[in-house]
Amino acid sequence: MAQDISGKVIGFSQIGSESGWRAAETSVTRQQAEERGVDLKFADAQQKQENQIKAIRGFIAQGVDAILVAPVVATGWEDVLSEAKEAEIPVVLLDRGIDAPEDLYLTSVASDQVLEGRVAGQWLVDEVAGEDCNVVELQGTVGSSPAINRKQGFEEAIADASNVTIAQSQTGDFTRSKGKEVMEAFLKSSNGGADICAVYAHNDDMAVGAIQAIKDAGLAPGEDILVVSIDAVPDIFTAIAAGEANATVELTPNMAGPAFDALGAYWADGTMPEKFIITESKLYTAADDPQGEYERRKDLGY
Ligand code: AHR
Repeated sequence: MAQDISGKVIGFSQIGSESGWRAAETSVTRQQAEERGVDLKFADAQQKQENQIKAIRGFIAQGVDAILVAPVVATGWEDVLSEAKEAEIPVVLLDRGIDAPEDLYLTSVASDQVLEGRVAGQWLVDEVAGEDCNVVELQGTVGSSPAINRKQGFEEAIADASNVTIAQSQTGDFTRSKGKEVMEAFLKSSNGGADICAVYAHNDDMAVGAIQAIKDAGLAPGEDILVVSIDAVPDIFTAIAAGEANATVELTPNMAGPAFDALGAYWADGTMPEKFIITESKLYTAADDPQGEYERRKDLGY
C-alpha cells in the first residue's frame, strides 16, 4: 500500500524535452504528484548539467523534502549530491544512472539499459538469421548512461554473430532532428544506403528521424533498411504498423510512481528501498498489435 505523502514538497530536476519519451515522463510525474497531493517543484534543465546542478542547489536552499533528478550525463554529481546529503534531503535518480558513491542517493528508478541494448541486438541477430548485416548506430547523448549502456548491450548481443557488424556509429543526441541529420550522412557514405542493412537507434525519436532520411533517399525503411530502437513511443508504433520500423524495446515513462512509493515507505518508518528499482524492458514488433499499442499510449503525454 502506498503511504500518504500529501503535503510533501519535492523538487524535480528534469533534463529537458529532447524526446517524446521525456515529455511523457514529465507529464506522468506531474500527474503522479497531483494524485498524491505532492507539491512538485519542476525545473527544466534544457539539456545542461550546469542547470541541473543549479536547480538542485536551489531545491536544497528552499528546504524541499526530497529531490528527483534525471541526470543528463553520468559524471560530475558528487559535489551537489553531497550537499543534498549534508542537508538530509533524500535524492532519487530517475531513468539514468550516475558514476558516484551509492550513499549519495536513496534509490535509482531506471531500466536495465544494458539489457535494452541486448534485447535490440538479439532481435536483429534473429531477424537476419545468418545473413550479412551492416548496422549503423545512432547513439544517445554523449556521456549519458543510456548511450553508454545501450551501446554495450547491443555489442554484447552481436558479439557471437560474425555476420552482424556495426559499420558506423555516431551520436544523434536522442533527438529526431539529429537522428535524421546523422542518418543522412550515413546514407551518403554508404553507397546511398545500399550498404546498410539496419539502423539501431538508442531511442525511438532518432529512429523516426532516420526513417524520414531513408524515405528521402528513395529507400523503404523497415524493408530495405531494418529499424530497431528503444522507448515504445506512440510514433514508433505508427511506423511499425506502416511497416516502416521493425522493433522497439519499451521504457515505461512512469519512473515517478515507484520513486514516490519508495519515499513514502522511507518517510513512514525508515524503510530503505532497493538501491536499484529496475523497470521492465519488453520487445514489441509488428506481431504485437502496433495499432492497439499506439491507441493505448496516444493520450499519455508523449
Ligand atoms: O534516459 C532515457 C532516455 O532519455 C530515453 O530513452 C530517451 O528517449 C530519453 O531522451
